Amino acid sequence: MQPQSIRPWWTTAILFSLFASWVSAHTVIVYPGWRGNNLHTTGTVFDTDGLGTAPASSDNDTLLYPYGQQWLYPCGGMPTSTNRTKWPVTGGAVSFQPGWFTGHETAFIYINLGLGTVPENMSLPMISSFQLVGPSKDPYPGTFCLPQVPLPGGIEVKVGDNATIQIVETAVHGAALYNCVDITFAEPEDVEEVTRTNCFNSSEITSRFVYSMNLDSSATTTLTTMGTTILLVPLLAAGYFGLL
Ligand SMILES: *[C@@H]1O[C@H](CO)[C@@H](O)[C@H](O)[C@H]1NC(C)=O
Ligand SMILES: *[C@@H]1O[C@H](CO)[C@@H](O)[C@H](O)[C@H]1NC(C)=O
Ligand SMILES: *[C@@H]1O[C@H](CO)[C@@H](O)[C@H](O)[C@H]1NC(C)=O
Ligand SMILES: *[C@@H]1O[C@H](CO)[C@@H](O)[C@H](O)[C@H]1NC(C)=O
Ligand SMILES: *[C@@H]1O[C@H](CO)[C@@H](O)[C@H](O)[C@H]1NC(C)=O
Repeated sequence: MQPQSIRPWWTTAILFSLFASWVSAHTVIVYPGWRGNNLHTTGTVFDTDGLGTAPASSDNDTLLYPYGQQWLYPCGGMPTSTNRTKWPVTGGAVSFQPGWFTGHETAFIYINLGLGTVPENMSLPMISSFQLVGPSKDPYPGTFCLPQVPLPGGIEVKVGDNATIQIVETAVHGAALYNCVDITFAEPEDVEEVTRTNCFNSSEITSRFVYSMNLDSSATTTLTTMGTTILLVPLLAAGYFGLL
């Protein structure tokens, strides 16, 4: 694999904007790579009648992604690839650029594993989710890297097994962007080296733990946003019915 990281962020940005009609998606996986460029937005919400994707009426083989390709579970509109990257059977680095285009001054990050050549799901978390804090709502350059992402607890893999690593980035409104890389587990010495070029933390991106607490009488029960107070009750009810 030619690491994305060798090129400066902005060169890649210029290259992508040359052939993306309108770009609005937000992660690039630097290491161990990605299924391919899914930084595309095509068609309009009217073309797909509000669906995240639909075939173009002029050409059934072309799928339109009016909201942006990366919004589609599980892998941002990319099918399983055959150019797999070797990744250590003992766990290893995951490096990505979270700040492509607007809306990710803060974001929650999830890194999950799906087992098999074509995983049935990506339901095995590899880390506890955490929050990234970038410099602004506007696009920003920069890389974030966890040098030793472990395997999910309780699974067994061996050299030669296939899997997919999924990175999810949620925006402040909760919508999630998806990006994946297909891997084959290998001995650590057979894997592309992790270096300061492909795995580093840019100074403008920081990270935070995410905590939760009980909603009890001592806690504030309203959310205030932009001058509007939203009662939590309808929110909880919506969550309850969502589970049914
Ligand atoms: C796999 O191939 C696609 C299409 O050429 C490319 O965009 C992507 O970066 C490759 N991924 C890896 C992990 O090499
Ligand atoms: C698209 O598929 C539909 C249904 O199979 C067919 O009727 C239509 O002619 C196709 N359109 C094009 C442009 O291929
Ligand atoms: C892993 O995936 C490749 C295709 O990318 C396939 O050729 C190979 O047989 C798969 N290995 C296993 C163990 O399923
Ligand atoms: C996810 O896929 C695995 C197979 O890789 C399967 O055993 C498991 O039941 C699935 N989990 C869910 C929640 O669907
Ligand atoms: C990046 O920051 C995270 C969180 O502080 C840390 O766990 C990780 O080791 C850092 N990455 C590098 C390459 O130093």
